[in-house]
Amino acid sequence: MRTPAERAVGLLADPPDEPDLSAGYLDLLGPATEPPPSLAQSAMRSTFLPQIYEKVWRPAGFNLAKGWPIGPDTAEEHAMARDWLGLGQPGESVRPALNVLDVACGPGNVTRALAAGVGADGLVVGLDASATMLSRAVSRSPGPRPLAGAESLRDLPGGARLRRRPTAQPHARAVAEAASQQPRAAEDGGAPVCYVRGNAVDLPFRDAAFDAVCCFGALYLFDDPWRAVDGMTRVLKPGGRLIILTSRRPFPVPAGPIGREVRRRAAGFTGLTVFGDGQVTGALAERGFTGVRRRRYPLMQLVAGQRA
Ligand SMILES: C[S@@+](CC[C@H](N)C(=O)[O-])C[C@H]1O[C@@H](n2cnc3c(N)ncnc32)[C@H](O)[C@@H]1O
Repeated sequence: MRTPAERAVGLLADPPDEPDLSAGYLDLLGPATEPPPSLAQSAMRSTFLPQIYEKVWRPAGFNLAKGWPIGPDTAEEHAMARDWLGLGQPGESVRPALNVLDVACGPGNVTRALAAGVGADGLVVGLDASATMLSRAVSRSPGPRPLAGAESLRDLPGGARLRRRPTAQPHARAVAEAASQQPRAAEDGGAPVCYVRGNAVDLPFRDAAFDAVCCFGALYLFDDPWRAVDGMTRVLKPGGRLIILTSRRPFPVPAGPIGREVRRRAAGFTGLTVFGDGQVTGALAERGFTGVRRRRYPLMQLVAGQRA
């Protein structure tokens, strides 16, 4: 049986000869290919934010933006994501064996929630550019994981050569070797998960690799959000579903040069794009999505559709 990492490598458009899994995730970004950081992006790459993100930052910030206590809390948001993507729900005896991509997965909070709705033969791939976020995601993943500090090149079943740094003890090497062969399943026994370090604006996967794509809390951070949506569309199979949770501007900005300047300055300073009503649904409709639906919250919007 192929490991989650080997299966993820199989979904790449241009798989590297020696995939680097030395940090516990598949690292496709060298320093030269990292997306340029904005103010908000720099926070995501710090070592501090990933530690408080899931328990403090995410629930406090997102729940308020979704209109807490009237808007959905995190558990309801996860259930809606699984529902709108056509996944199962935790506890169901049969869950679909789908390939799911979680774009800008951060510390893996949404990735694990998606995995809980997918059967054990499926695969959930979490992609993010931040090494510190991904380290946190890997540390929160259940099951065995590659040890830090390992050895040269190693051939694994399926032919993928995975690069590791030298380990101190032979025993640790043996454990690492065994661990690398195991699928990593989600917390409640859902789909195996693999994390990938890559750029969401230039997705590294081949066309039609995924049955479902999720992008929560990140489209407003990307330097080119519409190119990112193009990529998410490209990697979806026909009939596959996309769901996006992103920012929403609660008031209209005047059209014309003044409005454009207000938007440009706000985005330039913070690195955040605040999307007007209709912009994200319109982007999906323009790309041929059908059944486009949206829930509006005070400062956020949840948008989904099905690729034609
Ligand atoms: C606010 S977190 C969202 C995490 C999770 N999806 C959630 O809903 O809680 C935003 C994430 O987007 C990632 N990110 C921003 N720009 C990116 C890019 N161009 N490529 C990949 N990840 C990016 C950041 O590193 C950060 O982990």
